[in-house]
Amino acid sequence: MKVIAIANQKGGVGKTTTAAMLSAELSIKGYSTLLIDSDPQANATTIFLDPHCLQTSLAYAIMSRDKKPPAPLVEQLVTTELELLDLVPATLGLANFDREPALSVTNLRTAIKAVRNKYEFIIIDTPPNLGLLLTASLTAATDVLIPVQAAPFALAGLNDLVQVIEGAKGLNENLSLLGAVCTLFDTRTSVSGESFRALTQMMPDKTFDTIIHRQTKLEELPALHMPIQLYAPTSRGAEQYATFTDELLSRLKLSSKSSRLSVVKTN
Ligand SMILES: Nc1ncnc2c1ncn2[C@@H]1O[C@H](COP(=O)(O)OP(=O)(O)OP(=O)(O)O)[C@@H](O)[C@H]1O
Ligand SMILES: [Mg+2]
Repeated sequence: MKVIAIANQKGGVGKTTTAAMLSAELSIKGYSTLLIDSDPQANATTIFLDPHCLQTSLAYAIMSRDKKPPAPLVEQLVTTELELLDLVPATLGLANFDREPALSVTNLRTAIKAVRNKYEFIIIDTPPNLGLLLTASLTAATDVLIPVQAAPFALAGLNDLVQVIEGAKGLNENLSLLGAVCTLFDTRTSVSGESFRALTQMMPDKTFDTIIHRQTKLEELPALHMPIQLYAPTSRGAEQYATFTDELLSRLKLSSKSSRLSVVKTN
């Protein structure tokens, strides 16, 4: 089982969109996948469902309530429109995780262990800061993927993140940096191309060849509660996330298991 944390302490760089589209695409390619939303903003959750309908939360699985230990992660799962994709939603209460005892950073890893036979991939969307939820996610992960926005100053702070990833190896020695993917690329501006080149120079072996372009359809997803693969399966955004997922699978020496859309639920 691979547990991939999607991390970058910079806000608005495409973490959530990448976490959600990668999860959807892996499930469409035949891998049983769980998306864990570890950001109190609950943006990844909102891409799949209306957050007002929520009864469960990652908060219950990693935080103690009324002095009782956390509840099992399996009780927090919700299903999605995609047959092989489940979700553990986030709620605002997750923000209080920063006030939990320091030892709680291993709670997510412990929670995930109990579902390891159920999923081939677990994708964790993380918040835009270097707080305890990020540490907990890095402690639970086997790999880290860094979305980097094609914009000026995008690389500032990447060294800090790499330091935090190195630090997490104290609790999780096999944690590995899977790579960095360039997002929100705008062909109309030269800074986009310059940022991508700078990223490839900084991380020559780690930068994914696939670039995710800025595309309006990807912006519309939170209002629709639908991943791009269902909303606009032939759009450029859907194609780029499919190609990116293939590249990610090949880095992991895996390949697609099923033909597209054969695993979408039919009602
Ligand atoms: N390729 C894209 N094309 C157009 N819009 C995009 C694209 N990727 C993300 N967006 C939009 O940009 C905004 C930020 O993206 P996203 O929420 O994925 O970033 P994030 O890094 O998770 O943000 P945060 O740090 O707040 O969690 C969102 O409104 C999202 O819909
Ligand atoms: Mg986000």
